[in-house]
Amino acid sequence: MDVNTKLYGLMGHPVGHSVSPALQNELIRLYGLNAVYLAWDVETVGLEEAVKGGRALSIGGFNVTVPHKKNIMPYLTDIDDAARKLGSVNTLKLTAEGYVGYNTDMPGLMRACGYDGISFKGRNAVLIGAGGAANAALGAILESGAKRVLIINRTRERAEELKKRFETFYPGIRMECVSSGAEAVSLMREETEKWNAVQATSVGMFPDTEAAAVTEDAFYELIDSAVDIIYNPEKTLFMKKTEAAGGKAYNGLKMLLFQGVRSFEIWHELKVDDKYTEQLLDIMKGAMKK
Ligand code: ATR
Repeated sequence: MDVNTKLYGLMGHPVGHSVSPALQNELIRLYGLNAVYLAWDVETVGLEEAVKGGRALSIGGFNVTVPHKKNIMPYLTDIDDAARKLGSVNTLKLTAEGYVGYNTDMPGLMRACGYDGISFKGRNAVLIGAGGAANAALGAILESGAKRVLIINRTRERAEELKKRFETFYPGIRMECVSSGAEAVSLMREETEKWNAVQATSVGMFPDTEAAAVTEDAFYELIDSAVDIIYNPEKTLFMKKTEAAGGKAYNGLKMLLFQGVRSFEIWHELKVDDKYTEQLLDIMKGAMKK
């Protein structure tokens, strides 16, 4: 580090278990940049000050995480298309006018799916969940050009809200909401083709690893490929059930990787080579164990 070292970092509350510093500093090393990436625990009362302070100190960019992804918007000078559609910002880049907000969760999931050979284009897609993670996942499913989308959420109204928000951006895509696996199965059986799925609830996350949001075996028999947004444990019960029924299943670590990679690309105006993917995943796994 020297007088020219550029500063980047994460703000959220809490940030104690984040793997972003390990990932971003490895990317900085691989690309030989004079930069460093830190993590700051910022509470909501201090959010505006943090953005102003970042600009005053010429901090080049931030990742933004829970609970600030929506609240940060009023303090930004501009917002990209994906962030506007999702109503959620996870990346800030410093410009002469202030910080511009981006969302890289949605492209991150799309890139992870591409890497694993999963495509939603022209396919039937089922989304489990209607929270923050599901919001990015629905954006990715719709942006990829799915044919028909089914949202399953315990609280049906939240699924309806999500559907309503996206309908205006993707008016041609059929979307339905249900609140149980059994209801989902009866709709899914209308199609002759199998479904691709994204599991975007927190059910099954460590330490509650013996749980899955959908329990019906009939559901898993209708799944072709699936992504669970959870990455701890590495193989969730949802993934095990999908595989046991003959489908392919992937965890959420690559989504997390590629959202970070996309942020890095935005800040440093370069394209990260896919040849680093496995190496970067290992760095993230190492950081998770600490
Ligand atoms: P995140 O940002 O991780 O998506 P969130 O916004 O709190 O977190 O959303 C959590 C998601 O997990 C929601 O879809 C939630 O369902 P509800 O909208 O009905 O609350 C789902 N979820 C959490 N615990 C659940 C449980 N025990 N059974 C079923 N769904 C659950």
